[in-house]
Amino acid sequence: MTAHLTAAEQRTRPAGVAVSDLTVAFPAGGRELPAVSHVSLDLTPGKITGLVGESGSGKSTLALALMNAVPKPGLVTSGSVHIDGIGNVLSLTGSGLRRVRGPGIGYVFQASQNSLNPLKTVGKQLLDLGRSHGEKNLRGLLRRARELIEDMGLDAVRVLSSYQHELSGGMRQRVGIVFALLLNAQVLVLDEPTTALDMLSQASVLEIIKRVHRDLGLTTLVISHDLGVVGELADRTVVMYAGRVVEEGETQGILRDPRHPYTRGLLAAMPRITGDLELARALPGRPPDLLTIPRAGCVFRERCPLAMPVCADSEPPDTLSGGRRFACFAAAGSAGATSAGHAETEAAS
Ligand SMILES: Nc1ncnc2c1ncn2[C@@H]1O[C@H](COP(=O)(O)OP(=O)(O)O)[C@@H](O)[C@H]1O
Ligand code: SF4
Ligand SMILES: [Mg+2]
Repeated sequence: MTAHLTAAEQRTRPAGVAVSDLTVAFPAGGRELPAVSHVSLDLTPGKITGLVGESGSGKSTLALALMNAVPKPGLVTSGSVHIDGIGNVLSLTGSGLRRVRGPGIGYVFQASQNSLNPLKTVGKQLLDLGRSHGEKNLRGLLRRARELIEDMGLDAVRVLSSYQHELSGGMRQRVGIVFALLLNAQVLVLDEPTTALDMLSQASVLEIIKRVHRDLGLTTLVISHDLGVVGELADRTVVMYAGRVVEEGETQGILRDPRHPYTRGLLAAMPRITGDLELARALPGRPPDLLTIPRAGCVFRERCPLAMPVCADSEPPDTLSGGRRFACFAAAGSAGATSAGHAETEAAS
């Protein structure tokens, strides 16, 4: 796939992304309630990071903040998002932001299968995207679009002259990836890329994501409520619950030995790992919404089989153990691990 890329398109080094202490709040019930609460995480350059959690856990809000695109009335109330070569995205406005959205981060939105303009062909919309970013070489832009479409196993001539309703769900999702990559993004974010697709289209979209990530030397974030999807793609996995990162680490390690009770619950609810629908146990209870997230103690305690008195009083701090980060009193006790603060102090001394 890389053979046809120009020298300018070849990336020497993939970009890293560092999210630090990010809080995003929405007004509700007369208060500002955090959908994302003091989240810190890194997207490792050249790797696929998976972000997983039930619906409502704050995944899309976090991902939109990477482009400083949190929808109103949402408000970033703390933190920063640093992208290599760009700086803190949250302090950018106007033309600075235009350079992030498209050339910096290519974003495939949740439900992007339905986000094309029904009245314009795909080709016309791709040209519109180029023009809105001041691209003068529209011929070159179309050439890149054709190559990307062909790389996704589609007929470029047909796709470019098609309207949304003439494409299947799987084809639209692939076209969404073409839009995200058209302006040579360094970082690719895919929000629920397979959710509305049948199993066959899911498998082929997962293969395409793996291939473009590798061939274009991207830093990639894949978001899904399905641990199976993240498990198949991601080098590292971040588990979110009620706006918090509750566990993070290398994907295979998390699948083999989850530490946080919520991650364990997600894993137990996943038939694809056990291979047996009978053995898949749905996670009891429902995730809280912004108004019902507990304001003190551990946000998972009402659904947690291991909850103890301390869990009602204090929010569990991050614990670091063997390359894993998790926020749980019970898991920290059984790991005999160091709290994140201690580990950092040790590393610095
Ligand atoms: N525009 C909005 N206005 C008010 N609340 C919102 C808005 N967008 C998201 N939320 C709330 O923020 C929380 C996280 O939502 P979201 O980021 O979409 O979660 P996920 O992507 O994990 O499903 C949910 O409780 C949701 O209702
Ligand atoms: S801190 Fe307590 S309630 Fe929260 S996940 Fe751990 S054991 Fe369960
Ligand atoms: Mg979402």
